[in-house]
Amino acid sequence: MTVIRGATTIPQDDAIEIKKAVKELLEQIASRNDLKRDEIMSLVFSSTADIHAYYPAKAAREAGFVSSSLFSAQEPEIDGGLPLCIRVMLFVERNITPRHVYLRGARVLRKDLADKINIAVDGPAGSGKSTIAKGLARDYHILYLDTGAMYRACALKALESGVDVEDEAGIVDLMRDVKLDVVYEDGVQKTLLDGRDVSEEIRKPPVSMAASSVSKHPSVRMHMTEKQREIAGRMSCVLDGRDIGTVVLPEADFKFYVTASPRVRAQRRYAELTAKGYAVDFDELLQEIIRRDEQDSTRALAPLKKADDAVVVDTSDLTIEESLAAVEKIIGEKI
Ligand code: DC
Repeated sequence: MTVIRGATTIPQDDAIEIKKAVKELLEQIASRNDLKRDEIMSLVFSSTADIHAYYPAKAAREAGFVSSSLFSAQEPEIDGGLPLCIRVMLFVERNITPRHVYLRGARVLRKDLADKINIAVDGPAGSGKSTIAKGLARDYHILYLDTGAMYRACALKALESGVDVEDEAGIVDLMRDVKLDVVYEDGVQKTLLDGRDVSEEIRKPPVSMAASSVSKHPSVRMHMTEKQREIAGRMSCVLDGRDIGTVVLPEADFKFYVTASPRVRAQRRYAELTAKGYAVDFDELLQEIIRRDEQDSTRALAPLKKADDAVVVDTSDLTIEESLAAVEKIIGEKI
């Protein structure tokens, strides 16, 4: 007989979330252990004391695990315990080497699996990489570092100070005197320039093109790369950018290259900016995206490029949920 363990978490105590999480957990356990449903003799669930909305065992039955005996229990409330967590033990008749499965932040329960994890997400503007990176950070309870925001803040400073974005020495001088910080408030990244929150301002189109220009300069890149490595060296995080998998973190545990057609990317940027009330022209945005791709991928140092060992995710025909699920499936198969 084999005993396989698994755990997952839910974002809130809600029946739909419980059903979704239980189904995903059991399907992952079955697929990673090459199990057929009727080989599972029993499923024993426990859930933390903050879960009341639904029996995990019932969710398992509804997910099609009908031939196993099922049981759910509630755990005592333990100070400092992982909240909203569902655990399961599967008893299987066959002797196999078990592959335990810990999803959605429950990974922290396993010391052997809880080592620092770095995920690199690279790709062109509007590919969906930042949405995916944010989703990963949320689901795995790790930090999200938007490296583009760092180049954008540098570009904004240059624009405001009247320093030519092509003038490398001028930009370096400027950066020497400026304090660039990335901080987190309620899990949301804020970019601060000398203490001023510029998170919104750096998203404006003129800053995008200027960011691409300042990011060509080797000394600017060196400065940013150092900062990014320092953060990634200290904690589990997902970084998105252009050169994360190739230059910043060549040893990242997971590397993804997210892409989409230029037209789809321009449509996304258009929707994003108009929703924020900016008056933008679609064709201009499309041209800017094409120009920026060209500048980012042809620069001499750390160009936008897929790392040899990165997995390509083309999001042209995928929704946000589908893109994130594709990436999490790949990560889930390894952790
Ligand atoms: O991801 P973004 O659109 O916010 O990035 C803005 C610019 O910054 C992008 O055109 C190129 C540059 N960049 C870079 O060179 N390296 C990174 N790791 C991230 C961004």
